[in-house]
Amino acid sequence: MTAALVLDGVRKDFVVRDEGRSARFTAVQDVDLEVPDGQFLAVVGPSGCGKSTLLDLVAGLTTPTAGRILLHGRPVTGPATDRAVVFQQYALLPWRTARKNVELGLESVGVPRRQRGRLADEHLDLVGLTGFADRYPHELSGGMKQRVAIARALAVDPRVLLMDEPFAALDAQTRESLQDELLRIWRATGKTVVFITHGIDEAVYLGQRVAVMSPRPGRISDLIDIDLDPVPGEDVRSDPAFGRLRHRVWSALRQPTRQQPTRQQPTAHAREAAHV
Ligand SMILES: Nc1ncnc2c1ncn2[C@@H]1O[C@H](COP(=O)(O)OP(=O)(O)OP(=O)(O)O)[C@@H](O)[C@H]1O
Ligand SMILES: [Mg+2]
Repeated sequence: MTAALVLDGVRKDFVVRDEGRSARFTAVQDVDLEVPDGQFLAVVGPSGCGKSTLLDLVAGLTTPTAGRILLHGRPVTGPATDRAVVFQQYALLPWRTARKNVELGLESVGVPRRQRGRLADEHLDLVGLTGFADRYPHELSGGMKQRVAIARALAVDPRVLLMDEPFAALDAQTRESLQDELLRIWRATGKTVVFITHGIDEAVYLGQRVAVMSPRPGRISDLIDIDLDPVPGEDVRSDPAFGRLRHRVWSALRQPTRQQPTRQQPTAHAREAAHV
């Protein structure tokens, strides 16, 4: 299978103010990753470990300090319609109806007006919002707003869908139904999905593979294949295999962070040597 996405030695530094001076802060480092075409990859890690930084790099919203990112073999140099992003906050324009919000991406790629309306309605149908096209965001629930954001992302027919904690602000029941909707859409469209979350259950439920990130600086510390075989109509979350995978991800997240040795912190090796 060809790789949709390749990250090769990716690092991202930010310049930050540290006690009044500017300093370099490494948010992610040494990230190597290959995502096969059509895979659903879930990325899980604690708050601040660099998940959004990584997604922004793939989206082309920022550039890596080192390393390279390839999308279907071509270097990522900026945002493009082969990728679409869904953020945690709905990011809808309040003065536009659901249909007009979905049309937004289509306008930017020059799709003619009549076609835009049809494509927007088709994608609103796809996310279960038939009949809501003329509603404004303030007339929609949180879950519905996020469905509009997903419809907008899908309408431009991206090859890769990038999602940054898209369901984090929703209540548990809405979240579960949107997770199922997303899996249905993913199966129907065959898109490659990179889905960021800090929910272990969410990662195991959605992902075909789970990338576990560790913080300071952010790295991918584990890649876990999710080989569940859900029986339609059964609750896979109560399957013992689900529990075992959940525990594997939980344990991977609990691994102590590998600290970079510094002059102030002698390495274990150096300490041993000093005791000889
Ligand atoms: N533009 C920026 N300038 C300076 N530091 C930044 C910038 N963006 C992110 N960081 C830092 O990089 C680190 C990773 O941030 P990031 O937003 O990627 O984390 P995250 O894993 O998405 O966290 P959360 O789960 O809370 O969303 C943090 O320490 C953050 O302070
Ligand atoms: Mg984030």
